[in-house]
Amino acid sequence: MKRKNTLNAFILACFVISVQVKAQQKNDPAIDAKVEALLKQLSLEEKITMIHGNSSFTSGGVPRLGIPEITTSDGPHGVRPEHGRDWVLDNNGKDSSTYLPVGLSLASTWNPALGYQFGAVLGSEAKWRGKDIILGPGINILRTPLNGRNFEYMSEDPFLISKMVVGYIKGVQDQGISACIKHYLANNQEIRRDGINVEMSERALREIYLPGFKAAVVEGGANTLMGAYNRFRGEYCTYNDYLINKILKGEWNFQGLVMSDWGAIHSTKEALLGGADLEMGTDIGHPAKTFNEFYFATPALQMVKSGEVKESVIDDKVRRILRVMFKTNMIAATRTPGAFSTTEHAVVAKKVAEEAIILLKNKANVLPLSKSNLKTIAVIGANANRKNAMGGGSSQVRPRYEVTPLEGIRACVANTAGVTFAQGYTVARKWKPDPKLVTEAVEAAKKAEVAVVFGGWVHGYNYSIWSDNAYDAEGIDKPNMNMPFGQDELISAVIDANPNTIVVLFGGGPLDITKWEGKAKAILQVGYPGQEGGHAITEVLFGDVNPSGKLTFTWPQKLEDSPAHKLGEYPGDSLNVHYKEDVFVGYRYFDTYKVKPQFAFGHGLSYSTFDYKDIRLSKSGNEVTATFSLSNIGTKAGAEVVQLYVKDIKASVKRPEKELKAFEKVFLEPGETRQVKLNLPEDSFKFFDEKSNQWKLEPGKFEVLVGASSADIKLKKSISL
Ligand code: BGC
Repeated sequence: MKRKNTLNAFILACFVISVQVKAQQKNDPAIDAKVEALLKQLSLEEKITMIHGNSSFTSGGVPRLGIPEITTSDGPHGVRPEHGRDWVLDNNGKDSSTYLPVGLSLASTWNPALGYQFGAVLGSEAKWRGKDIILGPGINILRTPLNGRNFEYMSEDPFLISKMVVGYIKGVQDQGISACIKHYLANNQEIRRDGINVEMSERALREIYLPGFKAAVVEGGANTLMGAYNRFRGEYCTYNDYLINKILKGEWNFQGLVMSDWGAIHSTKEALLGGADLEMGTDIGHPAKTFNEFYFATPALQMVKSGEVKESVIDDKVRRILRVMFKTNMIAATRTPGAFSTTEHAVVAKKVAEEAIILLKNKANVLPLSKSNLKTIAVIGANANRKNAMGGGSSQVRPRYEVTPLEGIRACVANTAGVTFAQGYTVARKWKPDPKLVTEAVEAAKKAEVAVVFGGWVHGYNYSIWSDNAYDAEGIDKPNMNMPFGQDELISAVIDANPNTIVVLFGGGPLDITKWEGKAKAILQVGYPGQEGGHAITEVLFGDVNPSGKLTFTWPQKLEDSPAHKLGEYPGDSLNVHYKEDVFVGYRYFDTYKVKPQFAFGHGLSYSTFDYKDIRLSKSGNEVTATFSLSNIGTKAGAEVVQLYVKDIKASVKRPEKELKAFEKVFLEPGETRQVKLNLPEDSFKFFDEKSNQWKLEPGKFEVLVGASSADIKLKKSISL
């Protein structure tokens, strides 16, 4: 009997669903009153003008009432070059904005404060250029290494995204400009992005794919959101009743406007009712050919006039648009001017680049290089003098300057060392090495004390791999994870010629480096580091900057090891892709299924050594605080990103081995020790229970793990909740 009672109590306890505090956007009654007053004065035709594009990057205004057009601009890491009203690149030179490191690099800093500074640069430059909405940040989950747009996004981990995105949005919006969080939702591949239907469990949706967007809306207060091109559970995302009406506008009380991605609306009635507020696109790509014939233009007008759609549906959209306009001083107010391409903004670009660079490997402390001792350096690889800013599709930027690694190194050692350059490979449509270029590189490496090879992915300009050999670019995924242009053979030959070879990898994600990784002494991952990248990389190579970036994704040894390819589906058939790997994305898969990655999520070395000690846990209700001490026991000042993972010892559903639930970037002088305190709110221990359709805390034992990466756990302690 006693046993039965205990069992009942346990079962009951398991189903205790903790009180859910509703996380929502707040209404602003003062702004709403102004919106209502203006709405009353608008004719139906004027309202319709406001809900669709009237040029490639603007939507219609109503001058008679002082309602301006909305001017949007890409993108996530710099204000895009001017396109005039109809997609013609303007070459007047006034659009040379700051090229910040890409989203993936920003996230590699694991420093939310930098997210704010990054956003503030974008907001300020957008304002100076007369833009109202900056089309970023992009935060889709890195589900597969092949996604051509991973460089624009942040991570495989929803918690890291949530923390990084809030600062970015606040930074933009504190400048009085709107951020536009994109692409909602599950735009995790570019192949067939226009129509592919994504199927996933409710648990995967809630635990992996929604949290970043929720944080952006609820904590970041994003004014606008862009729907994704693809479908989700059968309906296009941009007017997916469940995603837009129920979750975004319902559960999260999103007050802002939902715009379509360019040309992502394919019907009038479904889209009007499904929650899209603003149809954007170009007339060129649109079946209607003219802006007046967009789905949300004449066809929408006719539908309301015929009574098929109620005018109140349009009113809700116009309300949202006006709300954003009042919030960002577009109506009856003046804006501060903003600033453009300033030295201060370049400083932010450099700081982000410095903190984003990840030291993956440093055998025998071959790095940092010594400026005083080194007399000859061979710089090898086309990426050493290739500019990246104008690459990647819609996120391209045209900066005033971009420092390449070759320029950075030459400037740094101008008076102390000789630098030779060998191209090593051609960015061309071929995978085989070029024997002549390899021989030149080997000769250069032999003659130098140190060789630095710059390789990895290249940032392509056009929307097609084969038109300019692009790999990290919009509209297409990478064909595989192999190193392009014969780089395997090149790097191997250079290392054989000079064991003091450092490999610097560019790009929006991992490559299969198994052919030469074992014999490489040092490897750096630099993403696309922005206009100051060449200086930042040089400073890390020579130790003026102590690297502190950490991987925001798991680096698999082979493509087949990554969960979308092993357990799930990619790229699906011509209609559907099923996310069968479920919540086991990234390290959640590698750790749970004991697959050894090349480099683990959260990995990144420093020129210093950090010592973790004395973990203590305390509890207040179901909120846990972890305290431990962190010391810099090396000789250089530096920063460590301490990561806290939670493991549910026993659960009624299969849960990942561990999940990131807190982190902090801690800067320490040599010899300095700090007490680090990380908070774990009750939500940190929950999973999404599909039976009750709620987040659930199952009482029991949890392990709190503190580490320098998901694979390098330094301290652990358990606690019962
Ligand atoms: C991209 C969006 C971008 C838009 C406008 C689309 O092709 O998917 O991210 O903001 O174009 O350039």
